[in-house]
Amino acid sequence: MIESNKVKKILYGGDYNPEQWPEDTWEEDMRLLKLAHIDVVTLNVFSWAALQPDEETYCFDKLDKIMELVTRHGMKICLATSTGAHPAWMARKHPDILRTEFNGMKRKFGSRHNSCPNSPTYHKYAVALATKLAERYKSYDNIVAWHISNEFGGECYCENCEKAFRKWLQKKYKTIDAVNAAWDTAFWGHTFYDFDDIVVPNMLSEHFTENHTTFQGISLDYRRFNSESILNCYRMEYDAIHAITPDIPITTNLMGNYQSLDYQMWAKYMDFISWDNYPTNEAPYEETAMKHDLMRGLKQGKPFALMEQTPSVTNWLPYNALKRPGVMRLWSYQAVAHGADTVMFFQMKRSIGACEKYHGAVIDHAGHENTRVFREITELGAELDKIGALTLGGRTDSKVAIVFDWDNWWATDYSAGPSVNLHYCDEILNYYKALNDQNISVDLISVEDDLSVYSLVIAPVLYMVKPGYDEKIRTFVNEGGNFVTTFFSGYVDDHDLVTVGGYPGKLRDILGIWVEEEDALPEDTENSFTYDGITYPATLICDLLHTEGAEVLCGYEKDFYAGMPAITCNTFGRGKAYYVATRSNAEFYRTFTGQICQEAGIMPVMDTPESVEVTRRINGNGTFLFILNHDTQSHDITLPLGGKDILTDILYQPGKNITLSAKNVAIIHLP
Ligand code: GLA
Ligand code: ZN
Repeated sequence: MIESNKVKKILYGGDYNPEQWPEDTWEEDMRLLKLAHIDVVTLNVFSWAALQPDEETYCFDKLDKIMELVTRHGMKICLATSTGAHPAWMARKHPDILRTEFNGMKRKFGSRHNSCPNSPTYHKYAVALATKLAERYKSYDNIVAWHISNEFGGECYCENCEKAFRKWLQKKYKTIDAVNAAWDTAFWGHTFYDFDDIVVPNMLSEHFTENHTTFQGISLDYRRFNSESILNCYRMEYDAIHAITPDIPITTNLMGNYQSLDYQMWAKYMDFISWDNYPTNEAPYEETAMKHDLMRGLKQGKPFALMEQTPSVTNWLPYNALKRPGVMRLWSYQAVAHGADTVMFFQMKRSIGACEKYHGAVIDHAGHENTRVFREITELGAELDKIGALTLGGRTDSKVAIVFDWDNWWATDYSAGPSVNLHYCDEILNYYKALNDQNISVDLISVEDDLSVYSLVIAPVLYMVKPGYDEKIRTFVNEGGNFVTTFFSGYVDDHDLVTVGGYPGKLRDILGIWVEEEDALPEDTENSFTYDGITYPATLICDLLHTEGAEVLCGYEKDFYAGMPAITCNTFGRGKAYYVATRSNAEFYRTFTGQICQEAGIMPVMDTPESVEVTRRINGNGTFLFILNHDTQSHDITLPLGGKDILTDILYQPGKNITLSAKNVAIIHLP
């Protein structure tokens, strides 16, 4: 599907469920989908019940017909394995497949994404089904990808999981003493004598809400265990399919910054990344950009698939507002601008029943092509046909990285103190938005990724410093890199145990500071600091720190700690390490990151008015500038270099103005 020789353009399509409709409607579907320039369909996402009516019986007749239908119409297939929802008979006969919720409630049959990840029944039958599908359809050379299950996620707290958790802990820690040390169980007399003493951390044990635990170490390990358990389910199907069709890439649809699964670990087992993008109309476009970049970063910048988005509305928001005219196109190109090589929808056709019947689709309940949504889809489809293979495989050349780490996210969210308003992703977005608004390209990277390719690395709220990560940062700065971190950084190790001797622990020497105390400000209070002549608010957290070699760039202006440093810069080896001891506003982040970038010689892709986003992708055909006007008014944009808009075929000379109407897009090909 991605970087495959079967694909010569940005694939356009998405989830198609003809099994929910009479067969005599299928040909008309094909006519409409072809009319809309759809060329890929994701099939078989939720058909387990039909494919396997009991333990022994498999029935592929209908799927055979559907495969044949779409193949006859020249479509590519993204073939799902259907294991995202188990059949009713399986739940009745093998209740071990049912999940237990966080509050201890054992579920009955119902809904979807409902199988216990440690259920032997689930493992057995999911792998069997995946194997049968691969055997049966391996000769279809229009299968461009396997799509395992659907939006893996959630948690389970059943007895199977509890037993598996103990085994997982035994493997990780070897001895119960090591577990006690890692979780600091001397606190509140929690010493475990045997692995069998350990129970799952939920509302029946350590938690008093989902995010409030009395033992961070236990809860953190359970998150890791749960993410790995679900990953194992994916991997079992992967291995079964890969053995039969080694040349067909395998993926599963991720969900951006979805908290329960450590996607950076998952990515290692995925042939390419695909994800489902469902921003609300109100979501800042920078937040969507950040999610795309997070997904691109999972495989070190390789293009990804936009597996789902709605053509118009969703059904699950309180107010399912329409995507305004042009917005579906704009957001589709935003995905491509950030590294997507497909544009896909949920869904091809609205069902007549159940909870998604009012979710947007290519084919609406009206059943014909005379709708606004269908017209917009068709127009975009024609454009993608025209673009062809030109932009495929394009890479982004970022000099700035923001560190994103799932363990750190879990740990900061579980932390009791300093502030309920401290949310990891908000702090990531503050820095991301500042750079994105300046059209400075950013990679979101994991703690395992190489830093040496970047000039600036920002690690907001690097609360957990995993073993060896301080050394990685030390080397990066020492060799000339610029590093930025913030309040609530360097506190703990990978078990959430505090590094004693003063915060920010192992980062102290790099930053040249020592944090003595940290003041959490209630929502209606703020301090301030004056940076480069402008006074900015200091909110959320104010660290009270002392320098140990760092230069003070500015200090607090109020309260008993007025005059103490708010922002510092330490020259370390050939590089610089900045510490931002508080949270501020968008203007500050923009100025601050802008100055560091300027000093480091990091250039914006180009200058544009507010709300006009620009990214750059580079491949063997040249460089492509994606200019996206997110605004509700038109803007004039000056092109620094000459090039051709591949959407309009207009050739622009250097220094020429492009007038981009509201929500419009230009893709300039610089040869
Ligand atoms: C998810 C699922 C789809 C569908 C859409 C609706 O992304 O993968 O099956 O439910 O949401 O928005
Ligand atoms: Zn379970």
